[in-house]
Amino acid sequence: MSENWLLGLHWGIKKSFLDYVARMPDGRGIFRDGATLADGSIAVFEPDVEAEHPEAADADLFLAFHGDIHFSGHFGMLNVRIADPWITMRGSQAEMTVLDPYHPDEGPRLPLVRFTLESRKTEDDMRIWLGTEVLLAQEATGLFNDVYRVGEQFESIAILLRATNATAYGNAKIGIS
Ligand code: HEM
Repeated sequence: MSENWLLGLHWGIKKSFLDYVARMPDGRGIFRDGATLADGSIAVFEPDVEAEHPEAADADLFLAFHGDIHFSGHFGMLNVRIADPWITMRGSQAEMTVLDPYHPDEGPRLPLVRFTLESRKTEDDMRIWLGTEVLLAQEATGLFNDVYRVGEQFESIAILLRATNATAYGNAKIGIS
C-alpha cells in the first residue's frame, strides 16, 4: 500500500444513511476516481492538486479533493452522488461543495454541508484539520429526497495533507493555529 493512503478527506458521510443503503437488498455504494472506502464506513477522497477555484480567492483556506461516490438502491429510484468535494473556509466556518449530480459539467457546484473547521498542530510534516458540527446545507436537501431537513447533522470530517503539498492545494493562507 502506498504511504499516501492516509492523505485526503476522510468522511463517514452519514452513518444512518449508509446503514439504510446497506439494508436494501439492492443497495450499492460505488467508490471510484479517487474515492475509496476505509474501515467499512469512511469515505476517503484523494487530494486534487489541479483544481482551481477563482471565487475562493478571498477565502482563508481552499482545499480540493477528487473522487466519486454513487449510492443506489430501491431498484433504481434511489441515486445519490457525492463527487469531487471542495472545501472553502472563511473565518472558522467552512463549506463543502460537490459537483451538481444532475449537471456535473456545467453550472455552479452544489453546497452540501457547512461546518466548523479547525487545524490541529502536528510535529511532523503533516497538516490536519477537523470538521465538526457538520450540518446539511439547504441547497442539498433535494439530494436526499428531502428526507433530511436543512441543518441535519452529518458525521465529522478529518483532513490529512502533507505540509509540503498543502500549500499547493490552497490559493490562500494555510495557517496552523
Ligand atoms: C421506493 C422508494 C422508497 C422507499 C419505499 C423508501 C423507504 C424508506 C424507509 C422505510 C425509510 C426508513 C428507513 C429506516 O429508518 O429504517 C427511508 C429512509 C430514507 N430514505 Fe427512502 N425510500 C424510498 C426512496 C428514497 C429515495 C429515492 C431517496 C433518496 C434519493 C431516499 C432517501 C432516504 C433517506 C435519506 C432516508 C433516511 C435514512 C436514515 O438516515 O435513517 N429514499 N426510506
